[in-house]
Amino acid sequence: MEVIILPSATEVALAAARIVARLVRSNPHAVLGLATGETQKRFYAELVRAHRVEGLDFSDITTFNLDEYVGLGEAHAGSYRRYMRENLFRRVNLRPDRTHMPDGRAADVEAACAAYEEAIRAAGGIDLQLLGIGADGHIGFNEPTSSLASHTRVKTLTAATLDHHVITMGIGTILEAKRCVLLAFGPRKAGAVARMVEGPVTALVPASALQLHPETTVLVDEEAAGQLALAAYYRDVHRNKPAWQRERDGV
Ligand code: GLP
Repeated sequence: MEVIILPSATEVALAAARIVARLVRSNPHAVLGLATGETQKRFYAELVRAHRVEGLDFSDITTFNLDEYVGLGEAHAGSYRRYMRENLFRRVNLRPDRTHMPDGRAADVEAACAAYEEAIRAAGGIDLQLLGIGADGHIGFNEPTSSLASHTRVKTLTAATLDHHVITMGIGTILEAKRCVLLAFGPRKAGAVARMVEGPVTALVPASALQLHPETTVLVDEEAAGQLALAAYYRDVHRNKPAWQRERDGV
């Protein structure tokens, strides 16, 4: 796991957007895995800016979102489809038929989950999966004790997250992405970040499964890095990162 500590939340968002912009330019047909939450908003704003100002072209890009609430469609203000429309989809030139979200309105939810996995496979897999992290260490809506081998399925959220059912990519789905980039900032995330990076791999901290992923970059601000025991080491590694690796990774 590569941990990059940046001075501010804005820097975190800019770094993530640079990574995505680089991929989109080098592979106009790339498949992006997208996340929701407050954390991702500045990152999406930066992608929108890159589209408008630098002409970043999403016309052949395919996207798959991590999760959606069961029963909620785009008409509902709380749906993730609405979030994505407002923050990204209607602001860049993504083709609507290439923006995929789990279907929260499906009559047969189980079939919809299987179809989602199949659609990801048919698209050639996810090249880059963006992630946030819950304060309890969840990724997507994979709450603590989620199977580390899980694929897209229905979950019941913990009361702390929200009292609802959701469809979420599984941890196994996320681990199959070629690259993962997880963003976190603010003191509320510091404990989860430390347990994800430096704790044991455990279903109690679903994000810790990313330790098993061969190419994960964790972008954090100083506050979210506040409980990392090896912070000085991560800073050193990043400071001394060879130019060719920076070029390859976009960060
Ligand atoms: C929700 C989402 C996650 C997200 C998390 C953190 O649970 N399903 O994908 O990472 O919230 O959200 P925030 O970025 O608002 O802290």
